[in-house]
Amino acid sequence: METKRSYIDIEQLNKGSFTKIMMEEALKEGAELIRQGEVVAFPTETVYGLGADALNGSACEKIFRVKGRPGDNPLIVHVASLGQAKRMVAKWPESAEKCAQAFWPGPLTIVLPKAELVPSVVSGGLETVAVRMPSHPIALALIEMSGCPLAAPSANLSGKPSPTEGDHVWEDLRSRIPLLIDGGKSAVGLESTVLDLSGEIPIILRPGGVTREQLMGVLGEVEIDPGIRSENELTIKPKAPGMKYRHYAPKGEVFLLSGKLQDKIEKLKHSIKNTKAVERIALISMKETAESLPEEILARIDLLFILGSADHLEEAASRLFEGLRLCDQENINRIYAEEMLEEGIGFAFMNRLKKAAGKKDHIQVKGI
Ligand code: TXA
Ligand code: MG
Repeated sequence: METKRSYIDIEQLNKGSFTKIMMEEALKEGAELIRQGEVVAFPTETVYGLGADALNGSACEKIFRVKGRPGDNPLIVHVASLGQAKRMVAKWPESAEKCAQAFWPGPLTIVLPKAELVPSVVSGGLETVAVRMPSHPIALALIEMSGCPLAAPSANLSGKPSPTEGDHVWEDLRSRIPLLIDGGKSAVGLESTVLDLSGEIPIILRPGGVTREQLMGVLGEVEIDPGIRSENELTIKPKAPGMKYRHYAPKGEVFLLSGKLQDKIEKLKHSIKNTKAVERIALISMKETAESLPEEILARIDLLFILGSADHLEEAASRLFEGLRLCDQENINRIYAEEMLEEGIGFAFMNRLKKAAGKKDHIQVKGI
């Protein structure tokens, strides 16, 4: 299948003018394809999604085929209005209302008992469904114009990092889908927070763009699914089926750099010294760390990927997937990655980084 790639430059489109966005040919075409039961890749503020009509079971089956995704891993249903969200679920508790008011549209996915009309292929056979209202104007316009909610996982091949720009989707899904709507880079760059509101106490099933601290500000008590803590990785099954799969691990080995700046630099020096000359080395770090590196380290590094400044952690976290993809493209054998504190957006960042550092079917995080 030939994939059409259509660009929409939101900046050019007179910021905030929703009517103008809806005039875009690519969106009309995308909506038409969705109505016909096809799949379309589109930008969201977190990562790119691969969408189909969430109420059309056979259209949603295509998503699994295109991605090579296991059938027991449910999809997120993307909506453009509160009314649409409520139609997807059997119950809409007070906690959901509070979260929707505070964080929608935005990077928060809510898990609730599902309504009958949601096909079981979407919920992976579970009694619950995950719902999110994205804030990206292209995503919202596509949902509205299609006239249906969109079931959409991240638009990567299973086992690759989520795509944070059109090129990543192109690399993975070119010739597998009819249309990629390219809207440039994703602002959040990490997937949404998945929050289970189906029980008494809210539980984070996957850390993401909305932080635990922000959720606690609105809901009070918020727990973390024990199955997603890295120390439990082998013993406790995570509640979000997607979190149990082996996640993306780059071809190279990932080593985490922790501690104070000087410790990090010393560890790096020592480790690099013991590395064979043929090995290609990457460093994924903050700008401030990169600027303090001695020449002997800089000279030995093949790829220096600067995430951003420590003053702008969100922006830095948003570039992790881009950095990891680049390491593979550059045939890197050893990847040194600087840790963030596991608070705020750092919790989601470290969750993804540790998964990248864990090899095959067990997670063993290698610090140095
Ligand atoms: O930011 C995002 O969430 C992106 C964009 C496209 O919206 N989507 C995304 O979808 O990351 P996906 O399919 O790659 O990840 C969805 C996660 C998986 O871990 C899945 O197992 C979990 O959400 N999930 C979906 N439905 C669930 C349910 N009913 N109960 C528990 N976990 C669920
Ligand atoms: Mg995914």
